[in-house]
Amino acid sequence: MIEISKLTKRFAQHTVVDDLSFSVERGEVLGFLGPNGAGKSTTMKMLTGFLAPTSGTARILGFDIQQDTLKAQRQIGYLPEGAPCYGDMTVRSFLDFIAEVRGFKGAEKRQRVARAVAQVELENVLEQSIETLSKGFKRRVGLAQAIVHDPKVLILDEPTDG
Ligand SMILES: Nc1ncnc2c1ncn2[C@@H]1O[C@H](COP(=O)(O)OP(=O)(O)O)[C@@H](O)[C@H]1O
Ligand SMILES: [Mg+2]
Repeated sequence: MIEISKLTKRFAQHTVVDDLSFSVERGEVLGFLGPNGAGKSTTMKMLTGFLAPTSGTARILGFDIQQDTLKAQRQIGYLPEGAPCYGDMTVRSFLDFIAEVRGFKGAEKRQRVARAVAQVELENVLEQSIETLSKGFKRRVGLAQAIVHDPKVLILDEPTDG
């Protein structure tokens, strides 16, 4: 499902991820532990195509995240750190927007959004703008957008935060 080979990230002279290799099999749940600043979020950003590595490769279901970025990203649901969402959108309009970005329309879009909303229990805040939600509910919105397309690979940065 995930294959990382010799992944390295440098910011100026500072090596943040140093020659990291590992793989994750289908059905496996991998917890990624380390102290603050260890490079966990940076590794996830490289895995999801959000940051380019200095060297090394990452593959998602065989698709190289740098060569076949969109094909790889279609397989991924990603909850980034802090769960950045558009604060002035309502929960419903944001999730509709994400479902459209993921290529769904009409009845299927409605069903997928409704399913994600039910899974993380967002029914009571659907018409609220995201910036007015508590932190935990913002994180739930971030989780809902990560699962709306039922991805094969789910990458969650600090999923229990909030
Ligand atoms: N865009 C950036 N520019 C410079 N340094 C960065 C940048 N992003 C992260 N870092 C540094 O990389 C290191 C690892 O950060 P991060 O991956 O967020 O750690 P973790 O998620 O394990 O707490 C930290 O020292 C951080 O300051
Ligand atoms: Mg982090």
